[in-house]
Amino acid sequence: MLILGIESSCDETAAAVVEDGARIRSSIVSSQISTHAIYGGVVPELASRMHLEAIDPVVDQALAQAGVSLDDIDGIAATQGPGLIGALLVGFSYAKALAWARNLPLAGVNHLEAHICSLQLLNPPPGFPFISLVVSGGHTNIYHVNEPGTFSLMGQTRDDAAGEAFDKVAKMMGLSYPGGPAIEALAKKGDPEKIKFPRSMIKKDNFDFSFSGLKSAVARHLHENPDMDQDMSEDRLAHVAAGFQMAVIDVLSTKLIAAARQTNCRCIGIAGGVSANRTFVDILSKRAKQHQINVFSPPLALCGDNAAMIAARGWEMIRDNQVCGLGDDVYSRVKL
Ligand code: KG4
Ligand code: ZN
Repeated sequence: MLILGIESSCDETAAAVVEDGARIRSSIVSSQISTHAIYGGVVPELASRMHLEAIDPVVDQALAQAGVSLDDIDGIAATQGPGLIGALLVGFSYAKALAWARNLPLAGVNHLEAHICSLQLLNPPPGFPFISLVVSGGHTNIYHVNEPGTFSLMGQTRDDAAGEAFDKVAKMMGLSYPGGPAIEALAKKGDPEKIKFPRSMIKKDNFDFSFSGLKSAVARHLHENPDMDQDMSEDRLAHVAAGFQMAVIDVLSTKLIAAARQTNCRCIGIAGGVSANRTFVDILSKRAKQHQINVFSPPLALCGDNAAMIAARGWEMIRDNQVCGLGDDVYSRVKL
C-alpha cells in the first residue's frame, strides 16, 4: 500500500511516498529556515505563503523520485495539527482536495504521533512496549507506547520546550537560528563540567520538565560576568554552551531512563529536532545500557520535520479506518 504523506505544520514543506508504513520510496523536504533565520524565529504569515509556493513542486518531486504517479497512490496522509494554523491549512487543504479528486482515503495525522512513528521507519524499529520522547522546538513529551497507535502521555514540559531553550540560549550568545546545531557545535570545544547549570525537576517523582529556569540561569551567568563583553572568546562561550547542553541532556536522560524502568520497557526511542543532537544520543545510550535498555534515534533526515513520518502514521490510521472527511479542520494545539 502506497501512502503519499504531506507535512506543513511549521517551516518545512514536505512530501513523501512510503510503502506499507515502513519503506521510504521518496522523502522531499523544502526548508524555509534561511528565510526565517533573518528574523531569529519562524514568522507564521511568511511560513504560510512559502508553503503555498512550495507544496505543488514538492509533491511532484516526491512522486517523481518514488517513480510513481498519483494513479499508484492508495491513500493520502497530511498533518492536521498541532502547529501553525495558517501553515497547516495549506498542506491539509491540498491533501483534502487531492483525496476528494482522486477518491482516496485521507488520514489527518497528529504531528507528535508522527514523530514517534519515525521510529517505525528504522531497521530494526524499537520493540513494543517502548518509551518515547518527542523533543523539538515546541514539545518535550514523554510517551509510553504500548502497541502501534497507542500513545499515553507520561510527562511534558511545564514551560519552554527543550529545543526552544536551545534556540533562546543561542540567541543570548549571539549564535545563529536554529540554535540547537550551533550550540552543539560550540559545546564540542567546551568543558561540560566547568559551569554547573541547574537541573530543574530532576529529583521530582514525575516525568515533567521545566527549562525556563535553566534559560534564566544562563542569562544570569552571562550578565553576572560582564567581562564577557571583553572576553567573548570562543573558549569561554564554549564552556557555557557545553554546560547548558549537559544540563538539558542530564535531565532528559534521567527522566527517560526512570520512565523506562518504571514501565519495564527495554527500549527508548527519541524523535523530533533535538534528537539530532549526537551528544544527547551518545550520553543517553551509554547511561541506558547500564540498565540493559536500548536507545533508538532516527537518522538526521528523519529527526526534523518530514513527510515520511506523516505517511508512516497515516498508513496505520488508514489501515485502521481512522479516516477523515472534507468537513474536518486543522488544530493548533492538542492534548495527547
Ligand atoms: O522537530 P523540529 O524540526 O521542529 C519543531 O519544532 O517541530 O525541531 C526544531 C528544534 C529547534 O528548536 C532546533 O534548535 C532543535 O530542534 N535542534 C537541535 C539540534 N538540531 C535541531 N537541538 C539540539 N541539538 C541539535 N543538534
Ligand atoms: Zn516536529
